[in-house]
Amino acid sequence: MKFFVDTADVEAIAELNDLGMVDGVTTNPSIIMKSGRDILEVTKEICDLVAGPVSAEVVATKADDMIAEGRKLAKIAENITVKVPLTWDGLKACKTLSSEGNMVNVTLCFSANQALLAAKAGATFISPFIGRLDDINIDGMDLIADIRTIYDNYDFGTEILAASIRTVNHMKDAALVGADVATAPPAVIKSMANHVLTDKGLDAFMKDWEKTGQKIL
Ligand code: E4P
Repeated sequence: MKFFVDTADVEAIAELNDLGMVDGVTTNPSIIMKSGRDILEVTKEICDLVAGPVSAEVVATKADDMIAEGRKLAKIAENITVKVPLTWDGLKACKTLSSEGNMVNVTLCFSANQALLAAKAGATFISPFIGRLDDINIDGMDLIADIRTIYDNYDFGTEILAASIRTVNHMKDAALVGADVATAPPAVIKSMANHVLTDKGLDAFMKDWEKTGQKIL
């Protein structure tokens, strides 16, 4: 499973990128707002840092306007993925932008039928939002599993990008059900390294090592 980082925090992306943990980046208007940065400037900085796809989202709601915004965003760098919402206009924009050779991420997906339409419209990535479904007591991971089955049934090339990930269990479960990509905030990716028994075991090793009076360096 590929790891995308769901942030516009360039320092956090750089830290994970140095460890080989970044296969791509996703942003959205809320993430850009939180960064306090100019969308074109910060997106260019991220694209220069990361080799993989960097999603930048359109903010228009009419297909023609989305297409114009998408074309402008795509000019930022070769690894830009234009992100469009899963509306009928978004699907039209997806079809046009992908036919022109752009990578397109169709976002705000909450049903398998929406994912089916996005694949038919030539999406490079479909972004089902796990956390926001969990928030309303619908199992977001069931949606990932359903889309996996449908895409495999018909050999769709659209990649399933599990989004709205809030916990380390979301990461594990997305990998288990076969998501192609998971996008998560840096804190979630970093906390995948944590385990209480690792901390306990390390503490015991350190205490015993002190008792030996030895040094390695
Ligand atoms: C990523 O592409 C999505 O925009 C993001 O994962 C949404 O996450 P949220 O539901 O935590 O805002």
